[in-house]
Amino acid sequence: MLITSDPELFRRMSAVRSTFRRGPWYAALKLHPERDNITSYVDERKHGDIRNRMAPGYSGKENVHIEQDVDDQLLKFLDLVQNDYVAKPDEGVYKTMDLSRETSFFTLDVISKVAFGETFGFLDQDEDPFGYLENLAQMLPAIIVFGVYTELTKIMRIPVVKAALPKSTDKRGLGRVMGFAADRVRERFGHKPVVRRDMLNSFINRGLTQGELESETLTQITAGSDSTASALRITLHFICTSPPVLERLLAEAQAAIEAGQISRPIITDAEARQLPYLQACIKEGLRIYPPVTGLLAKMVPEGGAKIEVDGVEKFAPGGTQVGWNSWGMMHDPEIFGADAEVFRPERWLPRSNSDKERDRITKMTETVSLCFGYGRFGCLGRGVAIMELNKAVIEVSQTLCVNTICALLKISRRFCASTCSLVAWPNRLTRKSLAFTCIPTWISLSRSVEKMRRMATRPSTVVSRWTLLLFLVHTTSDHEALCGWH
Ligand code: HEM
Repeated sequence: MLITSDPELFRRMSAVRSTFRRGPWYAALKLHPERDNITSYVDERKHGDIRNRMAPGYSGKENVHIEQDVDDQLLKFLDLVQNDYVAKPDEGVYKTMDLSRETSFFTLDVISKVAFGETFGFLDQDEDPFGYLENLAQMLPAIIVFGVYTELTKIMRIPVVKAALPKSTDKRGLGRVMGFAADRVRERFGHKPVVRRDMLNSFINRGLTQGELESETLTQITAGSDSTASALRITLHFICTSPPVLERLLAEAQAAIEAGQISRPIITDAEARQLPYLQACIKEGLRIYPPVTGLLAKMVPEGGAKIEVDGVEKFAPGGTQVGWNSWGMMHDPEIFGADAEVFRPERWLPRSNSDKERDRITKMTETVSLCFGYGRFGCLGRGVAIMELNKAVIEVSQTLCVNTICALLKISRRFCASTCSLVAWPNRLTRKSLAFTCIPTWISLSRSVEKMRRMATRPSTVVSRWTLLLFLVHTTSDHEALCGWH
């Protein structure tokens, strides 16, 4: 198998009229024990047929409630943060929040609501009632391994192994989710079918059978939740740990609220698209940690094909699989700049009106959009995913960061200048400069550590001066170099 990080080749292989085909890699995406799904069909005729029948449902044209459904789940998420996780020092209430789990709860409830009109209830219960996430964390690495060693999929046909695979009668894990989805599908058939204007309804209207739907809804849940949760949590992580980014984003939001350009309580999708810095943060989040990193391997057509490698044309024989190196593509310094390894939303903002600058941003935008695939394999849930990110990144940043993390970052900001100079001077450090830099830093640290101790939620989060110094050196060195904060 070959691996590529070349956007041009990736587009060529996925284009609507391309002669490249899906490789056997895709077979590993079969989640249902008996049936394939839109992501796992290697036979492209079958894939094309089901894609045509499912695209209108995913597009939201037949489900006018999608935006309201996303808003409802986001309000639940924000309420949960406000009510259960924001510290109440007067009452001595401090509770840590696992942002990673909570973002998954949010995207899982969104996808179940828009797909079949009912949420799983992850946010209501603030827990994973099915043990689904734990099970998924075990399954995903297996899928990646099976995609590379496709012969291993034959093991699945052995009766003992088959019996151990998730099934809809399971009480926990992926099987429990399968059962939940199968029940929602069953309700739509029979004597008194439930009728709702949701994605499931659109798929039924286009002739998908009950069996097909059981397999497709399972894929919809896995494809639609983990990817968006990854994008959301990584973007929030970088925003909340980068004081200048957080400050700029909140300032943009505040100005838009004051100008009446943001609806309350939740920003609309259309309004979010008008906020340049928010859009820059979302693109940068997708780029810095592309949510889908599977190989998505396409196959060279019979007779072979010429492929350009570092400017030189090479011949790839028919049947060669060409996998995608998403990380390499999204971190390519030739496209994103020498600091491509760093989260810096400013790279997406034009520095001038020149054609060169316009070309630079267009090239980056076209490349980052490949996070969602391209052409005849492009992500069908992209609109829903972007809507979730557009709303959640800004609303969660406002609630979560302002209430909790911001306090911590404000402390760090006060003596950032002195630690920055410490970082910037290692080569010409004299006794005088060391004393000049370190003494005020140490005094600030001592005061701040006391503050942080009071804010700390449990013993493990009580930090020492040294760990705080390391944290600051790490974060401020990034900022000083990249954001021109000082
Ligand atoms: C940030 C979030 C997301 C990312 C980065 C993402 C990315 C991708 C990628 C890379 C592919 C495969 C492209 C290929 O095979 O070459 C894909 C396919 C797909 N995605 Fe997404 N996705 C996201 C969210 C969603 C959501 C929310 C849904 C459902 C509502 C969804 C539904 C699908 C479906 C159905 C396919 C299969 C399309 C086909 O095979 O024709 N995705 N996505």
